[in-house]
Amino acid sequence: MGDKKIIAVTGATGAQGGGVCRAILKDAGGGYAVRALTRNPGSDKAKELKKLGAEVVEVDIDDAESLKRAFRGAHGAFCVTFFWEHFSPEKELAEARNMADAAKHAGVRHVIWSTLEDTRKWVPIGDRRMPTLMGKYKVPHFDAKGEANRLFSERDLPTTFLLTSFYWENLIHFGMGPKRGEDGNLYITFPMGDKKLPGIASEDIGKSAYAIFRKGDDFIGKTVGIAGDHLTGDQMAAALSKALGQEVRYNAVSPEVYRGLGFPGAEDLGNMFQFKRDFESDFCGARSLGFSRTLNPSMQTFESWLAENGDRIPIEKGSLRASGE
Ligand SMILES: NC(=O)c1ccc[n+]([C@@H]2O[C@H](COP(=O)([O-])OP(=O)(O)OC[C@H]3O[C@@H](n4cnc5c(N)ncnc54)[C@H](OP(=O)(O)O)[C@@H]3O)[C@@H](O)[C@H]2O)c1
Repeated sequence: MGDKKIIAVTGATGAQGGGVCRAILKDAGGGYAVRALTRNPGSDKAKELKKLGAEVVEVDIDDAESLKRAFRGAHGAFCVTFFWEHFSPEKELAEARNMADAAKHAGVRHVIWSTLEDTRKWVPIGDRRMPTLMGKYKVPHFDAKGEANRLFSERDLPTTFLLTSFYWENLIHFGMGPKRGEDGNLYITFPMGDKKLPGIASEDIGKSAYAIFRKGDDFIGKTVGIAGDHLTGDQMAAALSKALGQEVRYNAVSPEVYRGLGFPGAEDLGNMFQFKRDFESDFCGARSLGFSRTLNPSMQTFESWLAENGDRIPIEKGSLRASGE
């Protein structure tokens, strides 16, 4: 690794962390090296990263000492937590605490914390517009990340708070793609009314994060939101129709109906979409498309993402399953 600045990447075999690793490794002359953290260095994804030039280090985020060892000597740390592995906001907070402690212990010079809004700032617990979940959350997987921001601030860590967006890969991997209805038509289903959903190719999160590490001081202490497009359900359906060569319609259900779909996480996601719908201007406003493209000029649009990935979208019959957001 020589005198390259090491970036320790959590979730390195996953969507966000994997994108960070690939963005850095592709830029061989950029002065940065990747330390890819994984529970299983023997996995195919870990081996692939090693082949591309990453140092692969075994770590369990739940084991604070292993994380401290893994962050040692790193210039930067990309920190992401894994809500959908356990569905527990408390566990997500504990993961973030371990990362912040390890970053402090290692004296890391730049942390990127992949976060989301604490929706309770917009919809307090007593607000009955959406149900309170797990006793004290509105959108558990958002709220825990937003609440965890302070774990980085309180430790005076040089942090960039990165607000991510809905991955379009949810249409491929998480059962959010078009489904054939009883009437034979294809539908995508979201409880967003006519409001816009900021979306992104997950690989672009990594490219943006790398740009933030490179710009360093400009972004320390800042909150940065990124998206590749802001699209209504109708606009997404029109783009899907074009890419798939068959008509896809938008099925705009209510958040109540979505929450009742019964898959694991349906209530959390129903509240999440309601939040994005009801606070569209704040949510989209925090994820400027112009800024996102300045940061990452190759940021994909939904159309360009579909051109490359449309044939990976399964068309299924049946009910919705959980998104990984
Ligand atoms: N889907 C969306 O639209 C969306 C949008 C915005 C934000 N998010 C957020 O993104 C987060 C997940 O990030 P992702 O999508 O990049 O994840 P991912 O693709 O599911 O990958 C997560 C990676 O984390 C690693 N991991 C899990 N538990 C670990 C542990 N205890 N110790 C060490 N490594 C562990 C796993 O690596 P190994 O198996 O190799 O250890 C796995 O490859 C979630 O919190 C979600 O809320 C999702």
